[in-house]
Amino acid sequence: MGAPTELPWWTDKVGYEVYIRSFADSDGDGVGDLRGLHHHLDYLAWLGIGIVWITPFYPSPMRDHGYDVADYRGVDASFGSMADLEAVFAKAHDLGMKVLVDLVPNHSSSEHPWFISARSSKDSPYRDYYIWRDPAPGGRPPNNWTSHFGGSAWTLDATTGQYWCHLFLSEQPDLNWANPAVADEFDEILRFWLTRGADGFRIDVAHALVKHPEFLDNPPAAEFVRSDTSADEWGALEHLYDANQPGVLDVYRRWRKVVAPHDGLLLGEVYVLDAEKVAEYVRGEDGLHLGFWFKPLHLAWEPGAIREVLVAGAQAAPGLLAWVSGSHDRGRAASRFGGGNVGRARALALSTLLLGLPGTPFLFQGEELGLENGAVPREQAQDPVARRTEAVGRDGSRTPLPWAPGPGWGFTDGPRTWLPMDGRTEADTVAVQRADPSSMLHRYRALIDLRDAQPDLRRQPVEWVGEDGPVVAYRRGAVIVAANCGDQPSSFTPPEGAWVVAFSSNRDGEQQPAGGDVVLAPHQAVVLTR
Ligand code: GLC
Repeated sequence: MGAPTELPWWTDKVGYEVYIRSFADSDGDGVGDLRGLHHHLDYLAWLGIGIVWITPFYPSPMRDHGYDVADYRGVDASFGSMADLEAVFAKAHDLGMKVLVDLVPNHSSSEHPWFISARSSKDSPYRDYYIWRDPAPGGRPPNNWTSHFGGSAWTLDATTGQYWCHLFLSEQPDLNWANPAVADEFDEILRFWLTRGADGFRIDVAHALVKHPEFLDNPPAAEFVRSDTSADEWGALEHLYDANQPGVLDVYRRWRKVVAPHDGLLLGEVYVLDAEKVAEYVRGEDGLHLGFWFKPLHLAWEPGAIREVLVAGAQAAPGLLAWVSGSHDRGRAASRFGGGNVGRARALALSTLLLGLPGTPFLFQGEELGLENGAVPREQAQDPVARRTEAVGRDGSRTPLPWAPGPGWGFTDGPRTWLPMDGRTEADTVAVQRADPSSMLHRYRALIDLRDAQPDLRRQPVEWVGEDGPVVAYRRGAVIVAANCGDQPSSFTPPEGAWVVAFSSNRDGEQQPAGGDVVLAPHQAVVLTR
């Protein structure tokens, strides 16, 4: 049965996050770049990837490694040139892949010409591009909002005597989306990239562009949970007024019209751990096309919790979520789930469950190799969260990708890498895994291949099999996906029928009939077809 044409193109594809600084370095400076990506696009095509999301490559002072944009229409020289980027678009398209660029509309760099001008005088034509407030009595910040990366969300500008707002670093001033001129600028920025060859956008901090018009104090968090990846001050508050305001949907309504002529994808980093709230961004015909569902990045390895998070996402917004188990902002899944062979097996089992759910799955680079976090000693930390707060920070998931045994691990020809690669082994590398049919890499490739081959995994409704117990399982038409999320062998009973094990995460039983009860080893996942 052919694919019904009315489904959007991203339904049938698996995405991949390229963290550009750490993907592949072509010029020996120890930082990944666009030519390095270009060189390895055929690897992504071989793996079965259909959408490549490239993290920010714009000119930037790199205070937050590119998420501080100084020019929304350029390419930072450390990553290459506009011609290099256009070559990436062209080659990806030749290989049948789409490319998403990372749009950073919540804030710019403090070195963006808009902010330099805005800061110079209250009369600057760009003053209202940013959020300025007078000091509270006693000269204090205007309200109690805090920055993800530590301290207040307000910095006083000595020249003009007002504070600017920044939910991240003070070098990342928040743009003022209440000013229609900002919206006009971004319409043009989107068009610029669409006409250059981008197929859509991953939208950074998609939930926070619009702030409450009265800038009310945030209440204390009902429950404080310390995070490895943001400052305690951030976690101490309930983010009622600095994020998730209904007006943000007006921005996406506009953008839907801008991307429509190009059939472009709007994929939001909606970092809200409540599926119903994420659903508000994607439901209907005029919101985001897809929103990331990040709760799987915050899971303990516990069957009840895993089932709850998957069911919540699948029910709240069927087909409209992007499923992930890792990103450049969290520890790697294999490490979060215990590390070693167990952590890797659990990460693959979770990926097996995610790849068959309605929506578009995305891998974070290196997940397909079963990589654990890289070891980054505190004194070599690069992430501003780690450098400016007590938090562990995000460097562990950002260390460069090991491509091949040897000096520089095939990542670079140079003597150094921007984050250390110590602790990687030959077995971690793409080259070694590609040559070994039993490797993690080949497991991921087989899984993606199976998703492609089974339209039911993308089109049929999800029926959950069983309501509790260690095996988390669902059926979509003629396909069953199941994972043992407990630490003992466990069985489940597939609905009646002649099922065959089309994929088994540890390869046991693959291509064998699955009759009666199916027994799964701890952390084993299977896909059954008939
Ligand atoms: C997003 C990015 C993160 C960045 C932050 C500020 O959460 O994924 O890496 O630090 O936005 O732009």
